[in-house]
Amino acid sequence: MKHEWSSRVTFVLAAVGSAVGLGNIWKFPYITGEYGGGVFILAYLFCICLIGLPIMLAEIALGRRGKQSPVNTMLQLSQEAGASTAWSILGWSGMAAGCLILSYYSVIAGEVMAYSFRASSGVFNHQTVDGIKGIFTSLVSDPEKLLAWHTIFMALTVLAVARGVKGGIEKTVTFLMPALFALLIFLVFYGMTSGGFEQAIDFMFTPDADKFFYARSELGDYLMDAEGEKVFTWKPMMVAMGHAFFTLSLGMGAIMMYGSYLNRHVSIGQMALVIVSLDTIVALLAGLAIFPLVFANGLNPAAGPGLIFETLPLAFGNMAGGTFIGTLFFVLLFFAALSSAISLIEPTVVWLIESKGLRRIKAAVWTGVGIWFVGLATIFSMAGTTIGDITENLVSWIGFSDTELKTGFFKYNLFQVIDFFTASIMLPIGGLLIALFAGWVMHQDSTEREFSFRSRYIYLVWQVMVRYVSPVLVFMVFLNIIGIFRF
Ligand code: TRP
Repeated sequence: MKHEWSSRVTFVLAAVGSAVGLGNIWKFPYITGEYGGGVFILAYLFCICLIGLPIMLAEIALGRRGKQSPVNTMLQLSQEAGASTAWSILGWSGMAAGCLILSYYSVIAGEVMAYSFRASSGVFNHQTVDGIKGIFTSLVSDPEKLLAWHTIFMALTVLAVARGVKGGIEKTVTFLMPALFALLIFLVFYGMTSGGFEQAIDFMFTPDADKFFYARSELGDYLMDAEGEKVFTWKPMMVAMGHAFFTLSLGMGAIMMYGSYLNRHVSIGQMALVIVSLDTIVALLAGLAIFPLVFANGLNPAAGPGLIFETLPLAFGNMAGGTFIGTLFFVLLFFAALSSAISLIEPTVVWLIESKGLRRIKAAVWTGVGIWFVGLATIFSMAGTTIGDITENLVSWIGFSDTELKTGFFKYNLFQVIDFFTASIMLPIGGLLIALFAGWVMHQDSTEREFSFRSRYIYLVWQVMVRYVSPVLVFMVFLNIIGIFRF
């Protein structure tokens, strides 16, 4: 007998635990900063409602009906619907995406752990902006430290998954998530007194379409083409859409996996609505906590992945009780990251158990070791190694010395490539396939029975969304990227 969640509250908690994580508190503010604020947030909210919510419903329903790891769920459901078993590719690419995402997620979560200790030791107290930046730089430019934290975080994830999802997650989420939520609200209030609140609201909610649609340099100036025109770009739209998937844990089977432990009698619609709303609220709160500090201290909102590590410690260092509050914050963020990490690895672990007959412990350890290795790429990226550097090295090893590769693709690092490839490409494609499968391939009465919505009208709205609206939107963003059509 497959195990089930103890109650539907547990499912919501676990799914919220998966959704709420570094994506909301670390990633959302820094990408909002990089892509100019207002319009980015609008695009993100638009994607959450029109793509995220319907696909969340679809993933939960598929999982509950299939009751197995995503690969086997897709095999079974496609057979049931008389369709090609090639749909199981969704499960395979999902496992790959989950492992790739976890490889860098773990490195960042490691930085969060390091910061819990830094906060508790009081090093943030009365620091200047430069002092705080120095603390961050000294952490990320030391690969050995990052490696140690990455190793500890992966070990803890493996431990939690080896114990079985229920044991680990239920407790974490029941107590720690509400605490994190309360602390964020406190930080928003603190931000209100910092003097940068108005600017932050303006930045987050006043749309400036130029910043979104035209390419800018790292310093924030617009790039110009040969004719002196600004350069149009779809990358921010892709990032916004990708982030909608990332933050809701959609597109790779994590929610499908959790749906498989869900009891028949629970209303999927209500669950999905709660998960999506809570996740969005947490992201917006994180923005409201962080941007006032950015503006009050004259920092650069487009500072990139270091943003939370360079803003929040400033606040903790200057508030009464900051040592305690700062420590608590990073500890809670660590737990939020752990409950997300578990969901990234669970589909692969369950597949190894089901199809390869491994014991849970063994499956968890091997998957963890593999992901740990891939994480090394992010560690070197954090310290500044670019793809150009790696290529130069390889090339000089073959015998061509003095090659300088500093432009275009070569200026990126492996972390940026893995992140963009997974979040902005693999997850949307996974989501697209899930929508198409649920909307067109599965029998209508199977999905209708899974949802048992109170009115048929809601079902029809959902159907239009997964059949047309979400796929067309995802498709449009992709077509634009390849330049097939512009609007
Ligand atoms: N949603 C999590 C966050 O915002 C990360 C995450 C967990 C995730 N499981 C996922 C992202 C599955 C994509 C797919 O931090």
